[in-house]
Amino acid sequence: MTTTAPPTVELITLPSDQDTSGRTLGDEEIALVTEAIRTGTLTSTKGQFVKKLEKRFAELLGVKHAYACTSGSAAVHIAIAAIDPEPGDEIITTSITDMGALTPILYQGAIPVFADVDPKTWNVTAETIAACISEKTKAIIVTHLFGNPCEMDAIMSLARSHKIPVIEDTAQAFLAKHNGQYVATIGDIGCFSLQQGKHITTGEGGIVVTNDDALARRLFLLINKAFGYGDQNPDHYFIALNYRLNELTGAVALAQLDKLHWSVQQRQITANKLSEKLLGLRGLETPFVAPGNECTFWKYCLRVDGDVIPGGAVGLAKKLKDERGIFSAPRYIQKPAFQCQVFSEQRTFGNSRWPFTLARPEAVDYTPAKFPGTFSGLESILVLPWNERYTDEHVNYIADSIYQAVQDLTK
Ligand SMILES: Cc1ncc(COP(=O)(O)O)c(C=O)c1O
Repeated sequence: MTTTAPPTVELITLPSDQDTSGRTLGDEEIALVTEAIRTGTLTSTKGQFVKKLEKRFAELLGVKHAYACTSGSAAVHIAIAAIDPEPGDEIITTSITDMGALTPILYQGAIPVFADVDPKTWNVTAETIAACISEKTKAIIVTHLFGNPCEMDAIMSLARSHKIPVIEDTAQAFLAKHNGQYVATIGDIGCFSLQQGKHITTGEGGIVVTNDDALARRLFLLINKAFGYGDQNPDHYFIALNYRLNELTGAVALAQLDKLHWSVQQRQITANKLSEKLLGLRGLETPFVAPGNECTFWKYCLRVDGDVIPGGAVGLAKKLKDERGIFSAPRYIQKPAFQCQVFSEQRTFGNSRWPFTLARPEAVDYTPAKFPGTFSGLESILVLPWNERYTDEHVNYIADSIYQAVQDLTK
């Protein structure tokens, strides 16, 4: 009996956002960094690059104020500090997000109250937020996860009816839109990250935006040790750190900004092509983008039905990696944020557990039954890395690999 060898597939290495293959860094960034160095002024208090970046970013989004800072975590921290919670006040947030969006709440002495998510989008909803509102709620932070906007109309009307400010964490959602409006400009403050894997990058960095003059003043001060630069009798007005971006990073960001629209467009084109190709594949759901939303695909997320595809998201990820060299992340952050030790064991300042010592018991009740969407969402998610350098060839390779893997797993 003769045996035939299985057909070999030529493996393709996908572009990575961790190096030049999946990024837009090039001569433009080099030219502006060189220019910045030649000025001899690397602090943004005296230089022009960060100021230009802030002006251009505000213009691009159509907001009154934009301020650069050192990271997305710093952006979220100063946004919360600008709202100025009392110790023990509650801030509603999401159970699926980056830790950089959560620990700033504790640093500001407030209690994170985790809202459940819609397992179809992994985003919080007006309904899940409403279930968390109490007389101690001081702010709501929404994360537009993976570049897919939350249902901002419903969330804003809920927030406005309770007079609660909304912070939009847009670290993963540059230029995403909800009903024609850029996310980050719908709530009271928007927060961006320029970290290595974002739509545009400076390695590390962040930006906050707002249309509110009073909040803008506080955001500026919170980046600048609360020193009243330019005031008649400047002083350090309140507790604040140095979160300033430097001119070198500002120069890179300025060059990156010119490439943002292109990057977003490329991600959308290729992501939509993959969705078309995967349409109808049993056991898989392509990204759900609600009518009125424009997703900008920080990542490309599939929902894998483990009842149809044996092994579920974990099994599919393993096959894609082992047989096609395609890396993906089943479960995304592995477990809901509230199960991380910082929250579950209240690890904060020394042994004090502060500010959790100020919390209402219901606010820190992380019973799994309260979070059905979070657990089922993490169970089914498969996160495929995505970036602006993906081409039709990459999309075809990914689609073909997924088809093959699903076929093998279900036969
Ligand atoms: C949704 C979200 N919020 C906040 C952050 C924190 O940003 P950074 O890493 O720049 O501090 C990140 C990611 O890195 C993020 O993805």
